[in-house]
Amino acid sequence: MAKLLSYLYPITKKIQSDFSGTLEITWYNGKKHLNTKNANYSYGSLQRILKFGLKHVDLNKVKSVLLLGLGGGSVIETLRKDFSYTKQITAVDIDPTVIDIAKNEFGLKEDGNLKIVCEDALVFMQVNSTQFDLIIIDLFIDTDVPKAFLMIPFWKDILKASSTNGTILFNASLAKTKSHALNEVIEFLKSHKYQTEVFEKVNQTNTLILSKGL
Ligand SMILES: C[S@@+](CC[C@H](N)C(=O)[O-])C[C@H]1O[C@@H](n2cnc3c(N)ncnc32)[C@H](O)[C@@H]1O
Repeated sequence: MAKLLSYLYPITKKIQSDFSGTLEITWYNGKKHLNTKNANYSYGSLQRILKFGLKHVDLNKVKSVLLLGLGGGSVIETLRKDFSYTKQITAVDIDPTVIDIAKNEFGLKEDGNLKIVCEDALVFMQVNSTQFDLIIIDLFIDTDVPKAFLMIPFWKDILKASSTNGTILFNASLAKTKSHALNEVIEFLKSHKYQTEVFEKVNQTNTLILSKGL
């Protein structure tokens, strides 16, 4: 019923999160979205932005994905349905409320090929010893990427976790111009033999970084 009515007007349910403030689950034009006060987290423009990035990745060569920032799990839907990716995904999110929403509102199920970890991505990366063929970094609190994820120590951990010839897809910013910190991350990747492309204003808004180990 909510789905049908949402073609006439959006229907919203609000849930309080300790990390992201008020989260809104909104039925809009027959599709459910996860939003914060100022940003779309999942299943809207965010999903289109990451799909744009994934079109540049050869997923046939990818046997394992690490997703930092699960949100409602829309990029998992994209990987599974649009790109028929069936192999291993490990998804990390700091927010237990978001993980409950992903499971209960968006039907995400853990199984042999999907592991969900509730942890700060910074800590997860510090203790992680596994390598992944594709690392998707989509860490936002509302409209901002927390500062620690634009600092070199985090990126050193990312490169340790990236397999030989691995790919990194970073949803880096909603800002109109690249920050000094983001430019430093790009230079760091290039200096470590990662072929790095910057896509600006993806879907009119986001800066995406795509980096491939040579
Ligand atoms: C834009 S949403 C992710 C959307 C998701 N990738 C998708 O495809 O639907 C950003 C997520 O980053 C998570 N996040 C923010 N800071 C984090 C941190 N320090 N560690 C882990 N997750 C974090 C938020 O809880 C939020 O769920």
